[in-house]
Amino acid sequence: MKVSVIGTGRMGRGLAKTLAPVVPELYWGSRSEDRVRQLIVEKELKGVHGVDLNEALRADVIFHSLWFRDLIPFVQEHRQKLAGKILVDIVNPFTEDFNDFTLEWGTSAAEELQKALPETTVVGAFKNTFFKVFDAPEHRGEVSDVYVTSQDEAAKRKVMELLHGIPFRVLDAGSLRNNRTIERMTLFERELAIRYGHYPYVSFRLFGQDPA
Ligand SMILES: NC(=O)c1ccc[n+]([C@@H]2O[C@H](COP(=O)([O-])OP(=O)(O)OC[C@H]3O[C@@H](n4cnc5c(N)ncnc54)[C@H](OP(=O)(O)O)[C@@H]3O)[C@@H](O)[C@H]2O)c1
Repeated sequence: MKVSVIGTGRMGRGLAKTLAPVVPELYWGSRSEDRVRQLIVEKELKGVHGVDLNEALRADVIFHSLWFRDLIPFVQEHRQKLAGKILVDIVNPFTEDFNDFTLEWGTSAAEELQKALPETTVVGAFKNTFFKVFDAPEHRGEVSDVYVTSQDEAAKRKVMELLHGIPFRVLDAGSLRNNRTIERMTLFERELAIRYGHYPYVSFRLFGQDPA
């Protein structure tokens, strides 16, 4: 199974760093192959290949890190290449000032993405993980949760298995519809982290659960 990450921004870097130790051959794609190759050297990532977007889109499981405003045009352009693949979606559809949602209450970015890509299986993950958490995923001996969602149980299992061994607790969070809540939770955690002075080092952990 070929796995890729798309994007060298804050989340793309965090995802590449987190996935590198658990994915034997990871393909990290960017509009700038030079930048991605330089980052792999700088961060000393073993088993990670810096590739262009076309190569990254050849993977079976693709973690993208685009903003919602760029995502829908991007997937429309690459719809055929994405057919039959699993696309892992980390988007939160927020306004430019991060104070509100850009979608109506009755939907979520993950659901809109799935609607735009009927031949692709969308799996939501990492929506509540702020980029700083990837640098120090353990806080006072505990790791935070990654809520994994999909309409397709087999695809969700596949992504959860792929994430086995990362320094996060990976939980089955049900269907894509739950992203109406999960994506909005990110706005809420951001506000609290700013109030208590630790933004952008913030993520969720559900209390009361046995360790996975
Ligand atoms: N920041 C957070 O803490 C956080 C937390 C949870 C979820 N998220 C979600 O994660 C996503 C990325 O956030 P970020 O903070 O990492 O943003 P970012 O630093 O701006 O990175 C976005 C990356 O997307 C790629 N990109 C942009 N436009 C593209 C296009 N037209 N085609 C292909 N690639 C394109 C770029 O990578 P290249 O230049 O390498 O091509 C860019 O670096 C957003 O949807 C956000 O809602 C962010």
